[in-house]
Amino acid sequence: MSRNSERSQVVLVTGAADGIGAAISALAVARGHRVMLTDVNGEAVHSAARRLGDRAAGCVLDIRDPEGWAKAFDAAEAQLGAVDVLINNAGITHTGHARDLSLQQHRDIVEVNLLGTITGVHTALRRMTEQGRGHIINVCSMTSFLPLPGYSTYGASKYAMRGFHHSVALEERNGPLDFTIIHPPSTRTKMLDQEMADPTSAISFAEKSYAPEQIAKAVVDAIVSKPVEVVFPPLAGRVQRIAGVFPRLMRWVLPRVEARGVRQRERLVSDGQPRASDASETPHRSVS
Ligand SMILES: NC(=O)c1ccc[n+]([C@@H]2O[C@H](COP(=O)([O-])OP(=O)(O)OC[C@H]3O[C@@H](n4cnc5c(N)ncnc54)[C@H](O)[C@@H]3O)[C@@H](O)[C@H]2O)c1
Repeated sequence: MSRNSERSQVVLVTGAADGIGAAISALAVARGHRVMLTDVNGEAVHSAARRLGDRAAGCVLDIRDPEGWAKAFDAAEAQLGAVDVLINNAGITHTGHARDLSLQQHRDIVEVNLLGTITGVHTALRRMTEQGRGHIINVCSMTSFLPLPGYSTYGASKYAMRGFHHSVALEERNGPLDFTIIHPPSTRTKMLDQEMADPTSAISFAEKSYAPEQIAKAVVDAIVSKPVEVVFPPLAGRVQRIAGVFPRLMRWVLPRVEARGVRQRERLVSDGQPRASDASETPHRSVS
């Protein structure tokens, strides 16, 4: 069966104006799905949707806003059909150690990454159950397994997202909905540029980074294959997942990983590549 012969689904993507969300939207349209791109950045999301043609539409959505969620689902239904697949992708970070971030920055991360995602899942659960079908795909992070310096509240928001995701999936296991959670490693988007600009995030550069299109492929493949959970890279990701359970082991491993991250970050900076998203390939491996 060719990819284009898969049943065309209506897919709502958050954080779709840029980075991984934009790549997911482009690939989903290329595979024949109809996509409602949503983002807090209205101008950017409308122009991203226009570039994808008539199987795409754009809508402003700040994922922290419950009324905005209802409007986005209604807009998708009116323009493309009832939403079959929700891809909760929008997320933010503020780099730096916990003591150096303001309380407001800590709160912002939790409000977007965790509460925003919960609000979206809460909206989707009712609507999708009423229509008797639906698939919720949450884009999380490898930091949901690993306590890492420089990622305290970001990682905490992703740990909590994973706990919420799997608890809801178990609650709904006998219902009509499917649930998938996907954990990207470092990916060359503006989020990684932000990390590149801050030496406290150097650990992100310890391992190979991925192009947003590689993550998008895993996400769009999941619309059909419906895996429970996807980690990156497939093997090393499983090792990282186990390592995160043992903070004492992390203390032993961390100095070497951090040193590699510092070296790789400095190499990128001295190569005149201050923006990680400009790199076509990075020679190292990454963890966040
Ligand atoms: N880039 C990485 O290294 C990396 C690694 C692991 C996980 N992730 C996760 O992948 C997802 C996408 O990240 P990215 O790298 O593409 O980020 P990005 O910064 O490139 O893009 C994020 C998009 O989300 C939008 N956004 C921000 N706040 C929003 C809000 N309140 N409501 C709606 N939209 C909002 C932004 O406008 C932007 O278009 C995030 O959940 C992130 O945590 C990224």
